[in-house]
Amino acid sequence: MSPPRVLFVCLGNICRSPLAEAAFREAAARAGLEAETDSAGTGDWHIGEPPDRRAQAVAAAQGLDISGYSGRQVSPQDFERFDLVVAMDTQNLADLRAIAPPERRDRLTLLLDHVEGREGASVADPYFGGLEGFDATWADVTAGAAALVAKLQRP
Ligand code: 4NP
Repeated sequence: MSPPRVLFVCLGNICRSPLAEAAFREAAARAGLEAETDSAGTGDWHIGEPPDRRAQAVAAAQGLDISGYSGRQVSPQDFERFDLVVAMDTQNLADLRAIAPPERRDRLTLLLDHVEGREGASVADPYFGGLEGFDATWADVTAGAAALVAKLQRP
């Protein structure tokens, strides 16, 4: 089987989805799972920008360097390029549903749908809050990443 292709999507692609991508890459590497991974935003404000400094700091505290990530906007073609399109919150999910080719909608989930007991929950947007919000983001994305890696290892 070819490696699963997984896309993480939030609003700006500078806070939550880059952290989800980093957490997933790390969890997959530790598990020996080969995967193709990227992240994108539903919005277009931060195209070409590196992740938010606070997201970079949270990742760096875990020994992960995300400074080279570059913001991009999600497109309908992403539903062909990726097997799984993973939204951070319910608004991202609604926006993605609206652009997904109907026959590809089954590729869409919320990140926390993969975590037992947290189905349907959103990863809160930390952008307008303080640093502690990014710690909460990191806790959520690591839980989601671990659950997703476990599922992909034992489909
Ligand atoms: P993200 O956070 O969706 O987790 O990357 C945001 C980043 C930027 C904005 C909103 C949320 N913004 O309004 O520019």
